[in-house]
Amino acid sequence: MFDIQEIRSQFSILNREVNGKPLVYLDNAATSQKPNSVLEVWNQYYTELNANVHRGIHTLSQLATEEMELSRRKIQNFINAKHDFEVIFTKGTTEGINLVSYILTQKLKKDDEIIISYLEHHSNIVPWQMLCERTGAKLRVIPIDENGVLQLDYLDQFLSEKTKVVSVNQVSNALGVVNPIEEIIAKTRANSDAYIVIDGAQSAPHFKIDVQALDCDFFVFSGHKMYAPMGTGILYGKQEVLESLPPFHGGGEMIAVCSFDKTTYAGLPFKYEAGTPNVGGNIALGAAVDFISKIGHSTLQNHENALLAYAQSKLLEIERLKVYAEKANRTGVVSFNLKGIGISSDVGMILDKMGIAVRTGHHCTQPIMDFFNIAGTVRASFAVYNTFEEIDLLVEGVKKAQRMLS
Ligand SMILES: Cc1ncc(COP(=O)(O)O)c(C=O)c1O
Repeated sequence: MFDIQEIRSQFSILNREVNGKPLVYLDNAATSQKPNSVLEVWNQYYTELNANVHRGIHTLSQLATEEMELSRRKIQNFINAKHDFEVIFTKGTTEGINLVSYILTQKLKKDDEIIISYLEHHSNIVPWQMLCERTGAKLRVIPIDENGVLQLDYLDQFLSEKTKVVSVNQVSNALGVVNPIEEIIAKTRANSDAYIVIDGAQSAPHFKIDVQALDCDFFVFSGHKMYAPMGTGILYGKQEVLESLPPFHGGGEMIAVCSFDKTTYAGLPFKYEAGTPNVGGNIALGAAVDFISKIGHSTLQNHENALLAYAQSKLLEIERLKVYAEKANRTGVVSFNLKGIGISSDVGMILDKMGIAVRTGHHCTQPIMDFFNIAGTVRASFAVYNTFEEIDLLVEGVKKAQRMLS
């Protein structure tokens, strides 16, 4: 039985007021709130376990190492990776994509091609542009249609022996559109030898991820969008792919033997985990995985999809309101504007006065905004603790904003 009040009671922050009104937190695509179980694990790490990992023979160091490696195995199960050493701790999706784009540098040459899509977050655009600058490779971008849906016939046209990387997100953060990554991966495998990178920042909080079934080379996501602390994230990489590529950062932890003549590198995952990791955060990410697993993906998704359907239908009752990608298969996000009211942040500020947190602006996806010829949208995004009553408050708030700004 899904007991929303019981879920909400696990998030102390949801009890606070903002501007004298109960907080209605609908900015989950930016970052989710953290359940008490995650905060307790984090706190417990610093109050009882704090020590550096992997390098001490003393008890605390060993306990901290065990807890962090246990968390790695929880995440391995969470994404169904074949091996725990394919799970690399990072500080988030941005770092994961930068890492991958850096270690692929030697694999690309002038006029090779990297395929991304119009729906990407800047962090899945800029690192690839930087890779193009380093190598002379070219970027090709799968366009979208008016519904915000990828036009995959362009992928068919783009794929060739020149394609070295295909990197797309599973869910768009700006629109909530769910991309057919299974189809994208199948087409890519059939028509090229490209490395396949999936940006799972907006899918990992909502979907059951199975990296073996997907057969991608890399899958990256952020912990803080799925109930874990900020500064946590995961890069999954296939064993044979990671083993064949060079390290990213050099430093402590990532070496086998270091001398002035020659340094050899550690095996996976440590080859990609130079320096002191975010031990407390990484352990707390394991607790966030426990939180999601306890609720169960189907329960979580059913609730979030019901919230989205309800929010969309209620918002569309408002005259002169446009929902972007209205007809697309979506999850977790409704992105909209009030016609005639040019600045989404004006709407966001009025909602904030009512205690309602939404995101406004371009959502780090300027190409999408350019496509729709707008500066930004108002984005409400949902998590498991949101309620239908909160959506009613959002709708009332948007109506009020419309009255005030018209
Ligand atoms: C689809 C997508 N990719 C990448 C990112 C970047 O994530 P982070 O800022 O956690 O590195 C985000 C963040 O909003 C995102 O939504």
